Amino acid sequence: MNILGINAYHGNASAALVCDGRLVAAVEEERFNRVKYAAGFPVAAIRYCLEAGGIRIQDVDHIAIPRNPWARLGTKLWFALRMPRFARERARVLARFVGIPEALAAAFDCDPAQIRAKFHRVEHHQAHLASAFFVSPFEQAALLSADGLGDFASTMWGAGEANKMRIDGSIAFPHSLGMYYTAVTQYLGFRKFGDEYKIMGLAAYGQPTYLEEFRRIVRSDGGVGFRLNLDYFIHHRTGPDMSWSSADQTPEIGPMFSDYMAERLGPTRDPEAPLEQHHRDAACTLQARLEEVLFEMLNALHARTGQKSLCLAGGVAFNCIANGRIFDRTPFERVFVQPAAGDAGLAIGAAYFVDHQILGRPREFVMEHSYWGPEFSPEQLRTAIASSRLSGSSLEITELPEEELARAAAQEIAAGRILGWFQGRAEWGPRALGNRSIVADPRRPEMKDILNRRIKHREIFRPFAPSILEEATSEYFEKSYPSPFMTLAYAVRPEKRDVIPAPTHVDGTGRLQTVSRQANPRYWRLISEFAKLTGVPVVLNTSFNDNEPIVCRPEEAIDCFLRTNMDALVLGNVLVRKPVTAADSPSVASKPSAQARQ
Ligand SMILES: [Fe+2]
Repeated sequence: MNILGINAYHGNASAALVCDGRLVAAVEEERFNRVKYAAGFPVAAIRYCLEAGGIRIQDVDHIAIPRNPWARLGTKLWFALRMPRFARERARVLARFVGIPEALAAAFDCDPAQIRAKFHRVEHHQAHLASAFFVSPFEQAALLSADGLGDFASTMWGAGEANKMRIDGSIAFPHSLGMYYTAVTQYLGFRKFGDEYKIMGLAAYGQPTYLEEFRRIVRSDGGVGFRLNLDYFIHHRTGPDMSWSSADQTPEIGPMFSDYMAERLGPTRDPEAPLEQHHRDAACTLQARLEEVLFEMLNALHARTGQKSLCLAGGVAFNCIANGRIFDRTPFERVFVQPAAGDAGLAIGAAYFVDHQILGRPREFVMEHSYWGPEFSPEQLRTAIASSRLSGSSLEITELPEEELARAAAQEIAAGRILGWFQGRAEWGPRALGNRSIVADPRRPEMKDILNRRIKHREIFRPFAPSILEEATSEYFEKSYPSPFMTLAYAVRPEKRDVIPAPTHVDGTGRLQTVSRQANPRYWRLISEFAKLTGVPVVLNTSFNDNEPIVCRPEEAIDCFLRTNMDALVLGNVLVRKPVTAADSPSVASKPSAQARQ
């Protein structure tokens, strides 16, 4: 039984293949076409999934599309009549959905009649809920999905048991926590698609000084619901202005905040203007109000369902700060957030919705790691090196047995050098989790600045993340519930903040990845070797890229390594080292903190 899930003509276009209940492959189109958050039709992602499963498009039994044009049809028509431009855009996108069988046939060079798969339309938020629950380790759980907008809803909740989900309620456009976050993000001068997570980092630098005002912007109803005060917004008048259909460009999103928001909060920030304390406080209040509403909703959801386990999905589920506080602010004892909690995850959600909810097959799969993307054989890695500018360069290139390699790589990191780490299958979701990562010494306070200056070129207020051996979590963090997908942030223990200053945010939190030996033995070994050298079972982990989608192929990793100031690169078992120069590696001169050496 082969089920192909396709998130098409929507941000984070992606594909996933489920064969006999087991996930075989899942990947975002952006990893292939190198367009961040690419929308359009994910031909390359579908092609990869079929190759990984060893099947042809003609062998697929079911195709699951996470969009249902019939969902909330009355609301859609009502808004379409008021907003002709929006209606035209919707009609254009829907026409593309109708043409998916032909698009598949053209991509795989076959007659449309040869595609025997049955097509299923799964409502956006039901696919989100399925993407979390059906691959979670929980037999039963409360479920919540929250994002900007999908099939004209922003929020949906219910409960799951065994191979079925029950939907208990939803919130329709224009009320949306995702749009609330986006609107204030835009007001703060961050206008690009996906900028919301930057504001989450900025929030730690402010105080929630505008909480009373923000309580007027989002009104909770004391239950699972909430309402936006639409005076502060324009999306309900202009339509949700988003461009989804082109594969060759990052999606764009139109303005959502009103003049009234600027009247109440002060002038909007120009994207080029410096950040002031007012902006930091507004970001902090935005986050604080989101958490207030979210925790009220979760407490109400807990009261209704009586469940101890919670599955979260949708873009709001990437709010790792809020996620990490769930254990303190709600009675939930277990939380599962799948690594592609946003719209890429719809591909696996739709596929598993068909597998369980529609076909009634039993659950037999738990997502224990995020490595569902392309991988490259040792021979392919050697060929990539031989045909690159590395070959014939003066750089030191050595192939080592695995244990020796981990030791040598750990020595590089401990010496303050920045290491590109490319292994195995690419990660599913937006976080690099030890297979397409840049790894550095967490003990050096200056490492964040060095990474930004030499490689990442990110806003200085954005934190870097720690990867920690799972078994050492409680030693360094105030919570120890596993966070294998970097979707939870916990407070670093006060006595450890000076030990790992580089990935500790200004508010003392860290968006951690807990690394188990079982989930990623090579990365676990690397961190273990670093711990043997330094006494610290933590490395700083950031994605292997420079303002682009995370590298997928070895050629992209080599290119990123050569064009940035990375010091060393590991591709499989091959270690490439640039020479040590004082000017090139200022971090080498720095000493780790005294506490770290003890
Ligand atoms: Fe969504």
